Amino acid sequence: MEKTEQLLERAVESQKKAYAPYSKYHVGAAILSENDNVYSSCNVENASYPCGICAEAGVISAMISGGDKQIKAILITSDGNELVYPCGACLQRIAEFSNENTKIYLAKSNEIIKEHKITELLPYNFTL
Ligand code: THU
Repeated sequence: MEKTEQLLERAVESQKKAYAPYSKYHVGAAILSENDNVYSSCNVENASYPCGICAEAGVISAMISGGDKQIKAILITSDGNELVYPCGACLQRIAEFSNENTKIYLAKSNEIIKEHKITELLPYNFTL
């Protein structure tokens, strides 16, 4: 199976497991790491709304705890007809582990619709 197909499958699988009783908006994300490992996660909401975690934050945690440090590709999928673009905080999270070759795929209905670079979505990320 192609790596992008695998990413899509894993993101959709995770999206189905999203815990989103408040927004009812289910997001799935999957990462292909520099070592060709695939990680996935979903959004996890909380009755105390700001405690909720985006799917991208979850999948980055999974990648780091899995021992990888670079994102080769990240795919995000969600409910509804509109594509979900990562929120500002998640763009900063993605930027931390990305480079110019990192691909950001946005998917809908089991299909990749858009491909971006992090510098297109967050041209001036914060660095130390
Ligand atoms: N959400 C994500 O998981 N990723 C994003 O990039 C945008 C928003 C989640 C957070 C919340 O659980 C739900 O979508 C509605 O905002």
